[in-house]
Amino acid sequence: MADEMAWSSSVEDARKLRDALDAAGKKLVFTNGCFDLLHAGHVRYLRQARALGDALLVALNSDASVRALKGPSRPVTSQEDRAEIMRALASVDCVVVFDEPRVTKLIKSIKPHIYAKGGDYTIDSLDSGERAALEKIGARIEILPLVPGRSTTSTLVRLMQSETTPVASIKYSAHEPEASTLRLAILGSGRGTNFDAVHRAIEQGTLDADIRVVISDVADAPILQKARELGYEAIHLEAGTAAKMSAASQKQLCDILRKHEVHVVVCAGFMRILTELVLDDFQDRIVNIHPSLLPKFKGRNAWVRAIEEGELESGCTVHLVTGEIDGGRILAQETVPIQLGDTPEQLYERIQEQEHKLLPRVLAEWRARGLPTE
Ligand code: GAR
Repeated sequence: MADEMAWSSSVEDARKLRDALDAAGKKLVFTNGCFDLLHAGHVRYLRQARALGDALLVALNSDASVRALKGPSRPVTSQEDRAEIMRALASVDCVVVFDEPRVTKLIKSIKPHIYAKGGDYTIDSLDSGERAALEKIGARIEILPLVPGRSTTSTLVRLMQSETTPVASIKYSAHEPEASTLRLAILGSGRGTNFDAVHRAIEQGTLDADIRVVISDVADAPILQKARELGYEAIHLEAGTAAKMSAASQKQLCDILRKHEVHVVVCAGFMRILTELVLDDFQDRIVNIHPSLLPKFKGRNAWVRAIEEGELESGCTVHLVTGEIDGGRILAQETVPIQLGDTPEQLYERIQEQEHKLLPRVLAEWRARGLPTE
């Protein structure tokens, strides 16, 4: 039987490798990550990283640190197996398993010549401690493009969808719900009454969740002001002028979500379009609330159009976010009857009353069934 320790190296050995390369005028490339379910995107990324220098060292998050980053249902593959698989790749010369959430300490002690990171980061969004350590040792930082459509989450979802298991079960891990509170990010562009409803449900103990961060694309949006007053971290993200959020701000958004170890992203009146830059990383973990009985009346002012078109009822929907505006699988809906002579304002007020109950309820159900798989 293979000695499991043989696949990973000590920091000491990694430093010796670096020094030997250095003495020969060669370069050590360093990268880090969880690499839980190795896929072609990883393999191509590692090949590109290796091509930057003469040897590639992969710092691999230990099981404990993957758990801290991704939630209790991860990793799927143990650190010993991940190290063994990684070491078997022709492009990888050395694997070091590390326990800390950041690789700052490793960078300082190994002193690689080149640091490679995937294109979901920018140089500016690198962890400030890691970046400072890299700058101090004079390492070159290289951001490599990600391979579109290849991610651990999409692999997991495809895998589970191919089973005969009911679709509902793909969203949740088998962990004990008591194990961990649902960590939320709330995205909004406006008043923030739905954010407030989620906050109140947490305060009242009907929802076991933790709002890690509130984010808006509108600098003076009341949602940000409300969040600050309540003591939450509130961030304005400059999102550009188009309806689609700019690529740079989506990258920033991913960094913020990752930094805050968010399980579920809640779009509560967030009037920007997200693309695969965010959706791939948080597949089936982004929900949106919309003031209509979807699939009817997607888009803005849905309640006004419901009255204009003579509908007898309207309502609200919570659904998973996909690339399609107000599309994605419907998780729950609440109906609101349209009364004769209703003004748009009167109807919308009643819809919002229902929204404020529906959104916390869906999140509480999600929480009760266990955390999402990634
Ligand atoms: C809510 O009514 C929500 O359904 C809607 O924005 C409002 C935000 O209100 N969302 C959409 O129209 C999404 N297409 P709030 O800022 O008071 O929570």
